[in-house]
Amino acid sequence: MKNIVVIGAGTMGNGIAHTFAQTGFKVNLVDVQEESLQKAMKTIASNLDRIIAKGNLTEEQKAETLSNITTFTRLEDAAGNADLIVEAATENLDLKLKIFAQMDEIAPENCILATNTSSISITKIASVTKRPDKVIGMHFMNPVPVMKLVEIIKGYSTSKETFDRIYKMSENLGKVPVEVNDYPGFVANRILMPMINEAIETLYNGVAGVEEIDTVMKLGMAHPMGPLQLADFIGLDVCLAILNVMYDGFKNPKYAPCPLLVNMVTANKKGIKSGEGFYDYSESKKAEKVSPMFVK
Ligand SMILES: NC(=O)c1ccc[n+]([C@@H]2O[C@H](COP(=O)([O-])OP(=O)(O)OC[C@H]3O[C@@H](n4cnc5c(N)ncnc54)[C@H](O)[C@@H]3O)[C@@H](O)[C@H]2O)c1
Repeated sequence: MKNIVVIGAGTMGNGIAHTFAQTGFKVNLVDVQEESLQKAMKTIASNLDRIIAKGNLTEEQKAETLSNITTFTRLEDAAGNADLIVEAATENLDLKLKIFAQMDEIAPENCILATNTSSISITKIASVTKRPDKVIGMHFMNPVPVMKLVEIIKGYSTSKETFDRIYKMSENLGKVPVEVNDYPGFVANRILMPMINEAIETLYNGVAGVEEIDTVMKLGMAHPMGPLQLADFIGLDVCLAILNVMYDGFKNPKYAPCPLLVNMVTANKKGIKSGEGFYDYSESKKAEKVSPMFVK
């Protein structure tokens, strides 16, 4: 596999494109918004600078990595000779079904179609294609260039050949792949999201404030980051979408999203990507805590 297409240039798409490009693959990065593509290229450049500062990359390697990435706003212009497409667009079932039907039309017959979805059924996504054996989940973690784990999710019809190729590819990227079956939330989010939701519920119930909850989990459980700040990093809209998929998929009230999370997303407080979530990320505030239970 040489030619990679990454669909979606948001939080995850830019990291996935970065990781493939730094390993030497040619990457076509696609987003419907030109602005997201420009922002992604800036983020990749500054993340490469960070790696240079640590002494792990040269200026030449940075230039080569950036030159491996070409940006597109239309999938049909980007996917004609793809060997692997990794979809990392917004976490929305209807959108993903539409994108996969289009990918199936455009991509070469042997191209593997992977999704970075956090929770949506791989089997369902594969069902809109004529190649369900070549559809697979490739769930990277945020920030992609740093985090080692990739959950490799087998849909009901994913072939062993597809699984083996993606497993090997993940190792070639310097990642540690883990085999997982296709059930809502897979492993990572099935365990993580109830914890994040419970942290939000704890805040909602007035048990403790934002910093207090995060401090308990950091100092008490040795988590590198508190659950509320982690939710801000993931994106509160993404957390809400994942919880809804698990709630619908298992028909179990324990996955019901906390009303405070629903309210915050409705008010466009989505965490880092919108500038405010449980913390305020504006330049002047620099990640100062916000008290979302009280109107400022
Ligand atoms: N944020 C995380 O920590 C995280 C971690 C693992 C997996 N994921 C999953 O990765 C995927 C992307 O999440 P994200 O956090 O990067 O979202 P994001 O909101 O940061 O970015 C999504 C991008 O997709 C683009 N997009 C929307 N429709 C498109 C289309 N038809 N074609 C091309 N681009 C399109 C948007 O313009 C946006 O730039 C989701 O499935 C999410 O569940 C997220």
